Amino acid sequence: MTVHFRPGHSDTVSLTDEAPSRERERLLIVSNRLPVTVAMKDGAPSAQRSVGGLATALRSAHTEPGGLWIGWPGSLDSLTERDRADVLRQLHAMRVAPVSLSRKEIKVFYDHIANGVLWPICHDRLDSLPLRITGWDVYERVNERFADVVADHYRPGDLVWVHDYQLMRLPALLRKRIPEARIGFFMHVPFPNPEIFFTLPVRKWLVEGMLGADVIGFHTRRFRGHFTAALRRLFGIEMEADATIRHDGRRVDLGIFPISVDAADIARRASEREITNSVLDFRSNAQRLLLGIDRLDYSKGIPRRMLAFERLLTDHPEWRERVRLVQVAVPSRGNVSAYRRFRREVDALVGRINGQFATPTWVPVHYMYRGVPQTQLLSLYRTADVMLVTPMRDGMNLVAKEFVASRSDEEGVLILSELAGAADELLDAVIVNPYDVDGMAEAMHLALTMDAGERGRRMRALRAQVSANDVHRWCSGFLEALKGSRAKIG
Ligand code: ADP
Ligand code: F6P
Repeated sequence: MTVHFRPGHSDTVSLTDEAPSRERERLLIVSNRLPVTVAMKDGAPSAQRSVGGLATALRSAHTEPGGLWIGWPGSLDSLTERDRADVLRQLHAMRVAPVSLSRKEIKVFYDHIANGVLWPICHDRLDSLPLRITGWDVYERVNERFADVVADHYRPGDLVWVHDYQLMRLPALLRKRIPEARIGFFMHVPFPNPEIFFTLPVRKWLVEGMLGADVIGFHTRRFRGHFTAALRRLFGIEMEADATIRHDGRRVDLGIFPISVDAADIARRASEREITNSVLDFRSNAQRLLLGIDRLDYSKGIPRRMLAFERLLTDHPEWRERVRLVQVAVPSRGNVSAYRRFRREVDALVGRINGQFATPTWVPVHYMYRGVPQTQLLSLYRTADVMLVTPMRDGMNLVAKEFVASRSDEEGVLILSELAGAADELLDAVIVNPYDVDGMAEAMHLALTMDAGERGRRMRALRAQVSANDVHRWCSGFLEALKGSRAKIG
């Protein structure tokens, strides 16, 4: 019996009796984050659905028969031998191959280097860097560990698809172990401007790691442009007209593949009676709803969004008691000090705004510090008058696309930061500069007062864009490029 994830249907996994096909080309997905994360709950280990763009987008690719998803399952250190064996059995049944990391490795590789150094670098936050950076040896060692697990599972003909900034060294390490393998690398976060990237002493070593791939994918032309500018300065190589480069006797394709959502599936689920009924419940009071849904991450722009809401209530007092902001923020990377500080900052802002404006019958900001189940997420998307997606920098932002996909009623207005990758595609959103608090407050007012004709026109255009460029297109586009890559030709 195999266990398949059914994308988006629930927060758990579902079982099928389908046997994996041996004839088909297998896909080995390799990412730090798996679609489930093992955590202790009520004294027993339980597999929780992972939140985040990467896990969301790759779920459907993993439903293809025969493939494997290789990654870190969360900390298993505190489990008894019996629980551990049980967890490993369950992961195996889900076609997940775990890469176990020790506490020390998680601290250095995941907390310190990946999320304390690479994440801020990729999101233009030089101010968040530690004064002295050590631990690249552990980053390399963990990438080596992933390479060993991939090599153990690899069969000739497999496609290996490596994901994101936690595993930038992996393509080169894999190339050494399996020279003939077809290896793809996708960067889910922005590749930063070289001026920022070059502050890292290990800049060349990281790029050499990526260049072990046959195809390197980015969300946008701008991120690829940053990468080619880095290549020019580091190695003196130029991208050719067919979007390839030559390096080390090989060709590497540099492609643009904007990640997306399963638009048809979201639209279908969002129209189910369970969702539409709960929308009616939410709407039973006359207030208008502004909505924010994010991982609690300083790149997502939550504080300036709150300040813009505060400005709206100050400059347009007619909205007091008539509008509320529901902000759902799922806890993320709580062991990293910048995230802990950020949590306190958001708590304080929510307290300040509510303290200033709340009345006995109205609270302006409803702040939920947790992940919500998929059905509730869809109900919120369907209820929102205005969706606020205002990151300071984001590779893509799937929340924006989920919102659009769920609005088969052609209602709702999307306010979108020009610094999210999604802004390159979602041109009919109300585009804002996330640093401009006053401008965002005015955009909120505009969105709340937009007439129905204009709302419908914009939403139809957004929906056409998201439907035509869904997650299946992203996935097949990348895999077709990988199958056709010419890397071994000199
Ligand atoms: P990132 O990859 O940085 O986390 P994305 O917007 O691309 O950002 O993806 C976030 C994913 O996590 C989306 O699929 C979204 O539905 C999900 N998500 C974000 N916040 C929550 C939350 N509070 N509860 C449940 N799911 C969430
Ligand atoms: O999409 C960007 C990303 O960093 C993914 O790599 C990651 O899975 C997701 O955000 C959530 O972060 P984390 O895996 O650190 O919880």
